[in-house]
Amino acid sequence: MKDRILRLQDTALGELAALAGKDLDAWRVKYLGKKGELSQALRSMGSLSAEERPLVGQVANTVRAELEAAYAIRLAEWEVAKERAQEAEETIDITLPGRTPRVGAEHPLAKIIRRIEDVFVGFGFTVEEGPEVEWDYYNFEALNLPKDHPARDMQDTFYLSEELLMRTHTSPVQARTMEKRRPEWPIRIIVPGRVYRRDDDDATHSHAFTQIEGLVVGQGVRMSDLKGTLLTFARVLFGEDQEIRLRPSFFPFTEPSAEMDIRCIYCGGAGCSTCKHTGWIEVLGCGMVHPRVLEMGGYDPEEVTGFAFGMGVERIAMLLYKIEDIRQFYQNDLRLIRQFAAQAD
Ligand code: DAH
Repeated sequence: MKDRILRLQDTALGELAALAGKDLDAWRVKYLGKKGELSQALRSMGSLSAEERPLVGQVANTVRAELEAAYAIRLAEWEVAKERAQEAEETIDITLPGRTPRVGAEHPLAKIIRRIEDVFVGFGFTVEEGPEVEWDYYNFEALNLPKDHPARDMQDTFYLSEELLMRTHTSPVQARTMEKRRPEWPIRIIVPGRVYRRDDDDATHSHAFTQIEGLVVGQGVRMSDLKGTLLTFARVLFGEDQEIRLRPSFFPFTEPSAEMDIRCIYCGGAGCSTCKHTGWIEVLGCGMVHPRVLEMGGYDPEEVTGFAFGMGVERIAMLLYKIEDIRQFYQNDLRLIRQFAAQAD
């Protein structure tokens, strides 16, 4: 009997060494369970003599204790091994290439605005802004364009009411600034912003586009100051040998008025398709502030004079970056915008 129990212990321990998971539980039921092999061996103790019984009982208890301890150890071993295996699977693979974060790029229009602002801030100008929804008064009337003035036809826009419209240019900020600053001078401001026109969109027209306005008001401001300022500006932006010319023109808010051309930056003046074989490219409108505009702004035209200019940002960006269709600025096509990501000015 005793031998049977000891053999049982050997077999049980032999089997246990290689078991894992559910097999461990099956082993416990098989050897240590109520109907397990050890219990069955003990049940047959009745057939033993009174001397043998306690001895065998002792052996059986020792064996049970040993099997239970061996089981606990094996179970713990297996659990540790299982955890390690899981950890090994979860380990971060540092050889995987990282995900490169996408870095945004400055939009070409924003870039041009920043460059132009930098030039004029260097001249002592400050940057002003104004509302895109504007009163008829500031957009037209205060700029010497009364209600029935024929020059209004060139700047038809979107009306929100009889008196309220989407501004057609950044020039109303001239009037707003004079009103705000009067009677103080000098005024030296640059005004970037979005403007609107009733236009059919095509490669060179857009119903919404961007302008930069400039205004200088002060004592003794002359046409030569306008020309010198714009020449320096053109040279910073387009190159130090850049030449400009002023062509007589008409704007109701300036007198005299001019269009400023730059020598064609593609052919150097020889004539090409971009400059329509004239050698010159028009980039902005300008002039001496009309006395009536100064008056409406609260200044005495006998005391101060001024010059002003206004340019289309898209046009300059198209020239500098060789972009052929104005609509490309608004389509958010990453193939266009990405080209400005790493590019220096
Ligand atoms: N506001 C004019 C336009 O949108 C541009 C312009 C011309 C602005 C002459 C000026 C200026 O300040 O003096 O067509």
